[in-house]
Amino acid sequence: MGDIESTEFNLAGGGGAGRERPVDPGPLEAERAAEVTLRPKSLDEFIGQPKVRGQLDLILSGARRRGVTPDHILLSGPPGLGKTTMAMIIAQELGTSLRMTSGPALERAGDLAAMLSNLMEGDVLFIDEIHRIARPAEEMLYMAMEDFRIDVIVGKGPGATSIPLEIPPFTLAAATTRSGMLTGPLRDRFGYTAQMEYYEVEDLTEVVTRAAGILGVAIDPDAAVEIASRSRGTPRIANRLLRRVRDFAEVHGSGVIDLGAARAALIVFDVDEMGLDRLDRAVLDALIRGHGGGPVGVGSLALAVGEDPGTVEEVCEPYLVRAGMVARTARGRVATATAWRHLGLEPPEGAPGLF
Ligand SMILES: Nc1ncnc2c1ncn2[C@@H]1O[C@H](COP(=O)(O)OP(=O)(O)OP(=O)(O)O)[C@@H](O)[C@H]1O
Ligand SMILES: [Mg+2]
Repeated sequence: MGDIESTEFNLAGGGGAGRERPVDPGPLEAERAAEVTLRPKSLDEFIGQPKVRGQLDLILSGARRRGVTPDHILLSGPPGLGKTTMAMIIAQELGTSLRMTSGPALERAGDLAAMLSNLMEGDVLFIDEIHRIARPAEEMLYMAMEDFRIDVIVGKGPGATSIPLEIPPFTLAAATTRSGMLTGPLRDRFGYTAQMEYYEVEDLTEVVTRAAGILGVAIDPDAAVEIASRSRGTPRIANRLLRRVRDFAEVHGSGVIDLGAARAALIVFDVDEMGLDRLDRAVLDALIRGHGGGPVGVGSLALAVGEDPGTVEEVCEPYLVRAGMVARTARGRVATATAWRHLGLEPPEGAPGLF
């Protein structure tokens, strides 16, 4: 029926114990409800990603016109850019139901068989984190995607028999933050890959303005730009910063979010003009003040800031690299001229990015 089986997992570790980072691109446990209310519900409402939106619009309207189920769709991109949102929109635009599961939930082929055999014709099956699907389930999925049929193995050992099972035509919408981890055969079975990109500040400003409207809080345009420009190109972070700024404005201000309130709140929450938080700045500080700008290995940086090397490498570093502050070299990490200046220091000769 219309019930949704939701098993969302958080790879980024944002929901786990320990310190919460306001700029974590993964979902924090407490904000799931807020995320639901802020999700755009149609392609028209979806902000940004013009290429993906345009291409999906063609695919979905073409399928609708011909009365067939559209090709399987892979939604690929970093956390918080709208993959789950887009999967929901796909079902919405097709006027069908969305059935949700995730790679880690499909441990055995039987888990997938149960899911597939419950589909109704035209349904959209959403598999989140598809790169984490177990091998036997993946192999069953190949046949399901291609021929809308699976072989269910009944029994064990020499007496086991395989029973073919027809499944109604469906569209698989799968999401992944690690498309490189998908096997070739799986990747080949998607008719279309939507590559979600980081958002421009203008788009995030629209995201913030729209979300403020839904939350019923007044926001000045320059405050929306301020929040957007500190959100690391990620709508989830933009919405989170907006909610924190709103809380601040309610307690300390008139309730209206103006530029002053936005800046003051973001100081309290430790998110600077570039969208760096305390941990990011600690890493830069260790790299520049502690190691003269590098090159230095991730292990030493992690040790200096008291974090696990995996966290530094997977959580901090990607954004520092994307923001042009850290360069990866064969001999280790190097601070760019931008990073030196960000800490209020004069970059030395030879710092990357210095002309
Ligand atoms: N284009 C957009 N316009 C407005 N809001 C958006 C947009 N994209 C995402 N959001 C908001 O950002 C939040 C996160 O989006 P979503 O959950 O779809 O990301 P995701 O790519 O699935 O992330 P993850 O990889 O962590 O699963 C949603 O709650 C939604 O409100
Ligand atoms: Mg998601």
